[in-house]
Amino acid sequence: MHVDIRPARAADIPSVLELWRASAAPTATDSADALLGLLRRDPGALLVADAAGDIVGSVIAGWDGWRGSVYRLAVAAAHRRHGLGRRLLHQAERRLAEVGARRMHAIVVGEDARAMAFWRSTDWDHRPGQLRFTKG
Ligand SMILES: CC(C)(COP(=O)(O)OP(=O)(O)OC[C@H]1O[C@@H](n2cnc3c(N)ncnc32)[C@H](O)[C@@H]1OP(=O)(O)O)[C@@H](O)C(=O)NCCC(=O)NCCS
Repeated sequence: MHVDIRPARAADIPSVLELWRASAAPTATDSADALLGLLRRDPGALLVADAAGDIVGSVIAGWDGWRGSVYRLAVAAAHRRHGLGRRLLHQAERRLAEVGARRMHAIVVGEDARAMAFWRSTDWDHRPGQLRFTKG
């Protein structure tokens, strides 16, 4: 089946939240309001994989003027291991390069063997010495 990767629209938000509920640990920013805010502030940051109208993948390619940040890379279970995660990441990288990002990072849960296997298969570098501090 052809899967198109395109910028998300407001109408996609419920499906994106559903995809995240099924594939990722919840975070405080998983809400329709937060996603609408993202679409307003940075249209094009949220990319979705659209399979004949079904949202089967997502990635956020965030640009703050300094670094590119990749968040919420997710592929629906039935569509995994067909290269869609790789395609989403490449589109995110392309978008970030286009807006001017020269350095990009992504947060990956170290205990998640599947996510680590995915990231290890990419040409991104793992930085074992770096820790993450969060608020909120
Ligand atoms: C991680 C995730 C996005 C990968 O999506 P995907 O479409 O299945 O990934 P791809 O098909 O592009 O896989 C690319 C490569 O990653 C590696 N890989 C992906 N999933 C893997 C798994 N379950 N086990 C081992 N290796 C895996 C393989 O090397 C694979 O290449 P191959 O299929 O040619 O062997 C998907 O499993 C997912 O949504 N997981 C839940 C959310 C998540 O953990 N996201 C990452 C947070 S940072």
